[in-house]
Amino acid sequence: MSISTQSTDGRWSSRWLFVLAAAGSAVGLGNIWKFPYIAGENGGGAFVLIYLVCVAFVGAPIMISEVMLGRKGRASPINTMRKLTQEAGAGARWTFLGWMGVLAGVLILSYYAVIAGWALNYIWLTASGTFDAASAQVAITTFDQLQQDPLEMMGWHSAFMVITIWIVARGVSRGLEAAIRWFMPLLFVLLLVLLGYSISSGGFAQGWAFMFDFNWSVVGPETWLIAMGQAFFTLSLGMGTMMAYGAYVPGDSHIGSTVLTIVALDTFVAVAAGLAIFPLVFVNGLEVGQGPGLMFVTLPLAFGQLPMGALFGTVFFVLVSFAAITSAISLTEPAIAYVVEEYNAKRSRVAISLGIFCWLLGLGTVFSFNIWADLKPLFGLNFFELVDQLSQNIMLPLGGLLIALFAVWVLPQSIAREQLQVTSKRVMFCWRVVGGVMAPLGVAAVFVYTFLPFFIG
Ligand code: PHE
Repeated sequence: MSISTQSTDGRWSSRWLFVLAAAGSAVGLGNIWKFPYIAGENGGGAFVLIYLVCVAFVGAPIMISEVMLGRKGRASPINTMRKLTQEAGAGARWTFLGWMGVLAGVLILSYYAVIAGWALNYIWLTASGTFDAASAQVAITTFDQLQQDPLEMMGWHSAFMVITIWIVARGVSRGLEAAIRWFMPLLFVLLLVLLGYSISSGGFAQGWAFMFDFNWSVVGPETWLIAMGQAFFTLSLGMGTMMAYGAYVPGDSHIGSTVLTIVALDTFVAVAAGLAIFPLVFVNGLEVGQGPGLMFVTLPLAFGQLPMGALFGTVFFVLVSFAAITSAISLTEPAIAYVVEEYNAKRSRVAISLGIFCWLLGLGTVFSFNIWADLKPLFGLNFFELVDQLSQNIMLPLGGLLIALFAVWVLPQSIAREQLQVTSKRVMFCWRVVGGVMAPLGVAAVFVYTFLPFFIG
């Protein structure tokens, strides 16, 4: 993958490789761990619908904007914004977008590594047969024990961070490229196996109804904010990741269709994970709104009942960890690309410093589940919830809003037309309406709807 190169001269060897790498960034814990648990916390059906609307009408156009800016700028997000504002004769203030992205990446990586550490731990737990024919109680207790043990959590958190930074420091090698080719399809297959199991589990109708029956009575202003934040998070948008990756896309690739492929893949994985998990929640009498532990309690239970479950379970958690690594790598890319490019610094040194910083910050998340569980400094949220919500629900959508406005209203139209390979005036008009009006207005409306009551009391 060309993201290993220190300059931005490299190009993805084919359009397909970019799709794989961008999908590797998009598909991660956001789809398999986060989507089901926040859908569960927010009442299912209506949340899922709002999320899908956000993905289609806000996420997809913003991803197109991001990839387009990246390909035009062909530099790290901060320098891309610098270059493009100069070219457009706009104020230097737009560069702030790049900086906010770097900060969001750092915040997200700090807790992402902690949760991915749980997945690493579960490789070991499933392989050693902990869940063979286990009861729901065993699954719950196993997860609780992990959460109550800060040292154990720190160990796995550190292991994940070391693996990620090691790969980033070496430059993403051909090995990883090959792995993405094989692991991503395998992850799809295993999700389908899990789906098959959940269909035969006896709870499928209930799980389906939970996800697709729209109960509007549970929807409030916050539901919109959370669904929108989730759309940004799962598609890796609003912080420059897709801009950084877009810098390597060959000039002749069609951005629109490429982005739609990535969005479709990502959505498929999230919905499949939900459909695999919710039936099991109902069949086993578990709590849908139990929060971050949802996947770690339900899926081991399913594997425990399947023939060769320990093997399948182990492979599944290996794949989830792998999906998390490809996303974590992409979280570091905007920051690392910038420092390497700007100061001609050694990639490995920058990667290690960033890793240490994020690791330290991640300790706050580790402790949020045990010794700091009752420490709620702001808005009744603990450290993990604060970092998560600030980055996902505020910084990413705000970044995305500005990116779309920039791409449509500030960047000269001729550049957009050339980047999007659009000749028809009508198509260009549609693009401007969707990317420049609908998507930003959508984000702005959700912000106003959520925060206005807060300001006017
Ligand atoms: N999209 C990734 C996931 O779903 C997380 C991510 C967010 C990665 C933002 C990069 C940038 O797990």
